[in-house]
Amino acid sequence: MSKKAFVATPKDGVAWVTGASSGIGAEVAERLAAKGFTVAVTARREDELADLAAKASGPGRIVAYPGDVTDGPGMEALVKRIEAELGPVALTLLNAGVYLPVEGDALERDNFDKTFDVNLKGTVNCLIPVAAAMRTSGRGQIAIVASVAGYFGLPTAASYGASKAALINLAEALKFDFDKQGITLQVIAPGFVDTPATADNPFPMPFLISVGKAGRRIVEGLESGRFEVTFPRKFTYALKVMRIMPYWLFFPAIAKATGWNKRAS
Ligand SMILES: NC(=O)c1ccc[n+]([C@@H]2O[C@H](COP(=O)([O-])OP(=O)(O)OC[C@H]3O[C@@H](n4cnc5c(N)ncnc54)[C@H](OP(=O)(O)O)[C@@H]3O)[C@@H](O)[C@H]2O)c1
Repeated sequence: MSKKAFVATPKDGVAWVTGASSGIGAEVAERLAAKGFTVAVTARREDELADLAAKASGPGRIVAYPGDVTDGPGMEALVKRIEAELGPVALTLLNAGVYLPVEGDALERDNFDKTFDVNLKGTVNCLIPVAAAMRTSGRGQIAIVASVAGYFGLPTAASYGASKAALINLAEALKFDFDKQGITLQVIAPGFVDTPATADNPFPMPFLISVGKAGRRIVEGLESGRFEVTFPRKFTYALKVMRIMPYWLFFPAIAKATGWNKRAS
């Protein structure tokens, strides 16, 4: 029989949220503080983190720990600092990410480098020290923010989708070991959320939800301990069905759904 997943509470230690200077990360940090967590928040923009910390409503609090997730040794030192100053990290949301659209007729190495550096390697840079710290305390909860764009290839998402697919695969692979170590590993796969990252998207975003709703669904998902947290389900479950389509059905269906069939080449 499988053991019940460990779900962190404020009594177990602090929460650490990366990519918390805007959008989903800022929203989840606020919600965790409102539930009583002391929340360490990380991103590059220091002013935004300071504003977030200042407006946090109790019973918990938010403490800014600025940093760049692409800096591996920097993230290792940051986790040590958070633990020394605030206590053990019991819960972490590895959320920092960028979306840079890729046009198939103008491929740029820089786009792929930046996306993989932040979304994939940046997540790994944070995961390694935080998992090591949790292993020492014998328990912990780590949630990785992927995306439904990681389910399969979508127009313009050659770098973004690949980075998110890699994160889903990485989490599946590590879950076998983390389960034995008392570390709950989760994947968050949102559909479209209204944040600065999606504000300039030139295409229609079906089932777009507010950042407040996404934050609520993520916090509920963290409390459930379930491996995959995906929403809005009407949208993401339909995508799961598309994932098992044969390619001869899949490509025309996606081209039609995204309007790509009408786009000039
Ligand atoms: N919005 C959506 O529809 C959607 C859907 C599925 C998944 N997601 C995922 O959700 C996560 C949050 O995105 P969002 O929509 O909330 O967008 P957002 O508002 O642009 O947030 C992205 C966050 O990542 C941080 N970040 C970027 N590069 C960083 C770096 N090198 N080091 C540290 N932090 C960095 C940004 O902070 P700084 O610039 O201050 O560093 C910002 O706080 C991302 O992983 C995204 O892929 C979003």
